[in-house]
Amino acid sequence: MGGAKYADIAGEIESKIDQGQFAEGEKLPTHRALARELGTTSMTIAKAYGLLAERGRIESFVGRGSFVKEQAPLKRAIRCQLSDDEWNLSILQPCFSEHMEALHAQLQLSFAELTKPALYGYHEGSGPIEHKASGMRWMQRYGLTVRSPEQILLTNGAQHALSILIELFSDPGDCIAVDQWTYPGLLSIARFLKRKVIGVAMDDQGMNPDALDEACRRHKPALVILLPSHQNPTTITLSQQRREQLAEVIQRHPLWLIEDDIYSFLNADCIPAITNLIPEKSFFIHGLSKAVSPGLRCGFIKAPQSQVNVLSAYIRATVWMPSPLMFEVARNLIESDLAFELAEAQRKLAYHRQRLAKKILGNQRFRAQDASYHLWLELPGNWQADRFALTAKERGLLVSSGSYFSAEGEETQSIRLSLMAISEEAFLDDGLRAVSSLLNGPLGG
Ligand SMILES: Cc1ncc(COP(=O)(O)O)c(C=O)c1O
Repeated sequence: MGGAKYADIAGEIESKIDQGQFAEGEKLPTHRALARELGTTSMTIAKAYGLLAERGRIESFVGRGSFVKEQAPLKRAIRCQLSDDEWNLSILQPCFSEHMEALHAQLQLSFAELTKPALYGYHEGSGPIEHKASGMRWMQRYGLTVRSPEQILLTNGAQHALSILIELFSDPGDCIAVDQWTYPGLLSIARFLKRKVIGVAMDDQGMNPDALDEACRRHKPALVILLPSHQNPTTITLSQQRREQLAEVIQRHPLWLIEDDIYSFLNADCIPAITNLIPEKSFFIHGLSKAVSPGLRCGFIKAPQSQVNVLSAYIRATVWMPSPLMFEVARNLIESDLAFELAEAQRKLAYHRQRLAKKILGNQRFRAQDASYHLWLELPGNWQADRFALTAKERGLLVSSGSYFSAEGEETQSIRLSLMAISEEAFLDDGLRAVSSLLNGPLGG
């Protein structure tokens, strides 16, 4: 992105489709009309439409014009809610059968004790200091160095943290550097806020520092966003050495780091955060969604001291504050150590499920760490990722097509499989066997 004019125009139209400004089936303006509107040539618009057709977003018919293509089947393939006879291998969340009882019991206890009137009132600075102190303890356990709870801000989950940091620390039209394959929620925010996404090349160890250096020189991004542990979707965890190399590059350029490390509780040994190396240039994000429950909507940001006030003011201006009642529950979970115990139980279960997946999908090429929630599988033969996801959906298997994760709309032959959303191991076992038979079947060849 940020290159040829026709590609920028195609990107703009794609954002409008994603945001619903162009509905499915809607007719797009003619080449001539759009060229006039944008002050360009019909040839440039024809190339932009050609690119959109290649990406499967529009269809053109001689004499009738170009229309937004129906995306519904793919959207339906990535869903949270599912019927009982479908295998949900598409969403990254904790396995609730593992800890529902303990979590519910703790919630009942917490709610019975919610007697402090202050919890029912308004707070400044994103929330009470004791809630920030619990967030500090949670993040320290997973590799962050932080000295004062004053540097912690409370958010409605990590997604909220990402969106406010992108909104505050970059401007519309700015570039944001991300991994070549990355978390789609991040790409959606960038699209809505009209930031240009630069996909930085990855190697076997994660984002390549030379490629980041080159991207910084060429595109001057305002931000770089890294997911250092069990990266979504590739599962790569950045080594200590790679973290140091990336920090060194970031230090040399005028940009901020957003380090989203919500899967770090899955690392067998604690790896120090990149933020520790460049604390004045970094925002560190964590939360309880992946280890305990996304339903709590409890996220944390550790900010440089110099940026705490502006972040507090922005949170206040937009949502006033995340719910103190839910953060009191979070505080109880953390201070009683239950949150850490639940996180460890999920890590062990993920480890066990990875072994199960290895047994069933052993003849396939895929990447995963010992205790990742998911795996990143390279499809065999001629399988194309979107087509595989749709074929799998017809068989009741919800998997995530790799195209969903591409920062710059690259073609891919990979899919992401979550091993944790299914509660019952026997059902997961059946689902993985069904995936395996599809992969080994004749359709892809
Ligand atoms: C890398 C990453 N960041 C953030 C989120 C969103 O987390 P939350 O539910 O806390 O908003 C996700 C969810 O999948 C994720 O994978």
